[in-house]
Amino acid sequence: MAELAINGGEPVRTKPWPAWPLFDEAEENALIEVLRSGRWYYADKVKEFEKEFAAFQDAGFGITVCNGTAALEAALVCRGVGAGDEVIIPAYTFQATADAVLRANAIPVFCDVELDTFNLDAEAAAVLITDRTKAVVPVHWAGLPCDMDRIGELAAEHGLAVVEDACHSWGSRWKGKGTGALGDAGGFSFQLSKNITAGEGGIVLTDDEELAALMRAFVNCGRGMDDPWYGHYRLGSNYRMTEFQAALLLVQLGRLEEQAERRAENAQYLNGELSRIAGVHIVREDERVTRRAYHAYLLRYVAAECDGLSREELIEALSAEGIPCWGSYSEPLYRNPLFQRSGDGPEYCPLSCPYYGGRMDYSEVECPNAERLCREAIWMSHSMLLGTREDMEDIVAAFHKVCAQE
Ligand SMILES: Cc1ncc(COP(=O)(O)O)c(C=O)c1O
Repeated sequence: MAELAINGGEPVRTKPWPAWPLFDEAEENALIEVLRSGRWYYADKVKEFEKEFAAFQDAGFGITVCNGTAALEAALVCRGVGAGDEVIIPAYTFQATADAVLRANAIPVFCDVELDTFNLDAEAAAVLITDRTKAVVPVHWAGLPCDMDRIGELAAEHGLAVVEDACHSWGSRWKGKGTGALGDAGGFSFQLSKNITAGEGGIVLTDDEELAALMRAFVNCGRGMDDPWYGHYRLGSNYRMTEFQAALLLVQLGRLEEQAERRAENAQYLNGELSRIAGVHIVREDERVTRRAYHAYLLRYVAAECDGLSREELIEALSAEGIPCWGSYSEPLYRNPLFQRSGDGPEYCPLSCPYYGGRMDYSEVECPNAERLCREAIWMSHSMLLGTREDMEDIVAAFHKVCAQE
């Protein structure tokens, strides 16, 4: 049996993985063009990107913003979420999903996720609906669309807004239609780690013209559309994107299709190979997902099914073999200090808000699947999926090598 690299043996690979972000002269030229034009503020490139990205996701309207968090906040506020409202979000997500709800002065209600997809469990969401529930925010985790049929049914039955957190799902489609265009509105992120990036940036999509106009005003200091420049009608903020960001994103969008195909092909190969290893569980596929992005390649590893090698030992040993991977969140979002503090008075708003007639104590929240995922998930970067078939074979070989030691 080959000696593990972690014990001083030869690693499976020493070659570097594809770097991220990827760029060439096309990005350089696009940036220089904007620089020399002097038009650095919202202009032709931003408008062009808004049109192109909205069309790419099958949405009627796209409003660019400075980041994905702002996109979600704009969608929630403009769709009418405010003080006293509850908004259902998954417990296994990044802070920004909850942050956007809190910024709308509303109460995040943490819902468990499905163990086999990492996505919001619609049946668990159904149980959490109260007469204060105003919206649900499905997060298409790592690019895999949520069950939008069931979420759409719940929303219709209870009159809820659906704001998609599509921050990982550029190019993903549910039954042929793009994410971000499946609910009332959907927000995307273009932060540096994302599959299409300008360092920071975001966009919010919708098919609803009126909502689009409200969101445009919200992210543009509350201005009216055709009114004088200094006419401000609603509370908003300056969440605008610059021409530099849009210039980068237009080039990156041109690369996305080819990259997405490569990632999907490599992920399919890994699914086939890694699912044969004891303890490894791949993400469930659903035929209604007609295309999906891979913001990360995710697995669940159940140590008890393979006699003892812990997830942490597996991650450390794989990393030593030249396969970087990690466990990501150590706890569901509700266990973070922000949610574990409670009290009365303005510093505890919106939980202490007099408009909120409910009671929320996050120390009592338990989402067993989210907690399990925090113990069992293994993540690999999306840029690794841009490698060759031989690169993927290295991943498989490293798993076999490490797992065979038990
Ligand atoms: C699920 C999810 N939602 C929202 C965001 C927020 O995006 P941004 O960082 O662009 O504000 C992120 C960012 O990583 C995210 O992972």
